[in-house]
Amino acid sequence: MSTEISSNSSSQKRKILVTCALPYANGSIHLGHLLEHIQTDIWVRFQRMRGHETYFVCADDAHGTPIMLKAQELGITPEEMINAVREEHMADFNDFYISFDNYHSTHSDENKAFASEIYNRLHASGHIKTRIISQLFDPEKEMFLPDRFVKGTCPKCKEEDQNGDSCDSCGATYSPTEVLNPRSVVSGATPILKDSEHYFFDLPAFEQMLKDWTRSGALQEEMANKLAEWFDQGLKQWDISRDAPYFGFEIPNAPGKFFYVWLDAPIGYMGSFKNLCNKNSAIDFDSFWNENSDAELYHFIGKDIIYFHSLFWPAMLEGAGYRKPTSVYAHGFVTVNGAKMSKSKGTFIKGRTYLDHLNPEYLRYYYAAKLTHRIDDLDLNLEDFAQRVNSDLVGKVVNIASRCASFITKRFDGMLSTNIDDQALANEVMNAGDSIAALYESRDFGRAMREIMALADKVNEYIAVKEPWQLIKNESKQQEVQDICSLGINMFRTLMIYLKPVLPVLADSTSAFLNDELIWEGHKTLLKDHKINKFKALLQRVDMDKINAMTEASKESLTTNTVKEEKPAKKKSKKIKVDDNSAALADPLGIDPISEEIQFDDFAKIDLRIAKIINAEHVEKADKLLKLTLALDELGEETRQVFAGIKSAYQPEALIGKHTVMVANLAPRKMRFGLSEGMVLAAGPGGEDLWILNPEQGAKAGMRVK
Ligand code: MSP
Ligand code: ZN
Repeated sequence: MSTEISSNSSSQKRKILVTCALPYANGSIHLGHLLEHIQTDIWVRFQRMRGHETYFVCADDAHGTPIMLKAQELGITPEEMINAVREEHMADFNDFYISFDNYHSTHSDENKAFASEIYNRLHASGHIKTRIISQLFDPEKEMFLPDRFVKGTCPKCKEEDQNGDSCDSCGATYSPTEVLNPRSVVSGATPILKDSEHYFFDLPAFEQMLKDWTRSGALQEEMANKLAEWFDQGLKQWDISRDAPYFGFEIPNAPGKFFYVWLDAPIGYMGSFKNLCNKNSAIDFDSFWNENSDAELYHFIGKDIIYFHSLFWPAMLEGAGYRKPTSVYAHGFVTVNGAKMSKSKGTFIKGRTYLDHLNPEYLRYYYAAKLTHRIDDLDLNLEDFAQRVNSDLVGKVVNIASRCASFITKRFDGMLSTNIDDQALANEVMNAGDSIAALYESRDFGRAMREIMALADKVNEYIAVKEPWQLIKNESKQQEVQDICSLGINMFRTLMIYLKPVLPVLADSTSAFLNDELIWEGHKTLLKDHKINKFKALLQRVDMDKINAMTEASKESLTTNTVKEEKPAKKKSKKIKVDDNSAALADPLGIDPISEEIQFDDFAKIDLRIAKIINAEHVEKADKLLKLTLALDELGEETRQVFAGIKSAYQPEALIGKHTVMVANLAPRKMRFGLSEGMVLAAGPGGEDLWILNPEQGAKAGMRVK
């Protein structure tokens, strides 16, 4: 296609390669993964519609200890497991209409070749260092243990059965060698410390290049800030080797040493694209990857893997003489009904379970409607989901067609009129194309959807005012009815062109109905004197019963979850400068006269929850405050940091492990000592006489106060 792409952008055809993060090959695709794949797919379909040469590749991330052990557990070879999982992933993505040009595996010949080549080049240029490190080793299994495969007693709060790198009870993070009474998750044996030579990638050597790249303006603002923070902390050499036994690629000239999974994972982007080029000789690999490539390269990823994509990956590419990404676009995490996806609540929803109950285009639309170009988390509220899809897609967009189509078919032999009944309305809808395109381009899909729905509202209003169903009764108004309904159908068509990247299948049925291809440029034209087909219902309403059935089914399928390997421990935000007087927040409630009367609605806005105090400590230089870490679930998965002015009445140690009541929906406030993300309720005259609420036994963190 060499069509002009838009009236106000250049007709230059861009070459674009797009990836999304490679899912691990030991777990099923869930609605969290799908946010990323849907976001990327919408962007890719948009670029293709605009005539750009666009390729979209992905793969399964097949290496690493968790995958090796999972296969052992299942009694099959890792190859058998990753092949089966890859088939499953491909079927899931296909059924959500994710339009990959290629879906490969990191356990492939292409990837092995690139990983070795990149390593050899880094080695030749002096960017690989070796040194001996000491690590926990399972003497029974005869393998080194990644942090996640060591358990033991927390060195800080002494809670038993905690992870090797962090404590669920007090939230502390530590090294696995600090764990008390450590044991191997794999065999139960007590690990020993053992030395081994490791290979390191010299990341600090790339600091200046990375700073320049960060400042090039192509990164999201939040990502650039994150990088600045990491530069401040200082870059460290990166351990890229693991000892046998390991499922991965052996390092060239280093027998028994394997590439750490995160070394060859991003190289998998190249491997998958190479595999595509091998299958399609019209695509030239080098023109996308060589140092002077004029192609664009984008990686869509989740916020948890920014470090790998914005530091290690560009540095590896630079060091090995390849081009760097044009940009890395991170998205936030999916929560369901306001909380982290949870197996017990049935909100850990696998893609397949969703497909068993609901139409994939509902989810595509809902995610689109809530996506921004930023890194914010996205809540899939299931009631809002049903309501939004029903009101926007069924009630607004498809409704236009269903109100107009039957008259055209029954009275006018399926012919659209040549006359435009309301040119101003037509122009408004047609002219919105450029601004909607700009919103797609900048990944502001939510704003694009709002703009499209506002147009749909106008069209519906036009039809409601004209009342063709009344006019049809009047013999002399027949032409008017044809004109009104023809404009309605045309506007439906234009809106469906705009929605096609999000709703490819609804767009295909619309194409069949309208005898029109719905190409992007079509938004500038109208169908006149054009035959359409009989209208069939295009989209069913979302049925809440099906959603409930889906969450029920998710409760039942409590199967495997992916184990992530050795991501850098998450650190809480810190070093926030603020003025002193904001500490007022922490002041306890005194005994004051009953203050201003509030309405029940005001009260109902306060989300009071039982919280578990999983840590409490003194705050340096603060004379009233204690710093509390409050958990909103018993496992301490969702935590809030709160500064409470209760130091005069409580010793921090005495609070740890207790339950209390907190305001969970208070907007976070920056205080001199850090961010306060809520408030605990306390009453009393002050000093020692100050009490926090202390629910009786049986209270569980997360319970809502009725
Ligand atoms: N294998 C690595 C990525 C290697 S890329 C060279 C990995 N895999 S993953 O399966 O754990 O995650 C794949 C992608 O899904 C990541 O971008 C991750 O951020 C994203 N998500 C996983 N759970 C998610 C949510 N709950 N919400 C949104 N995205 C989430 O990391
Ligand atoms: Zn602890």
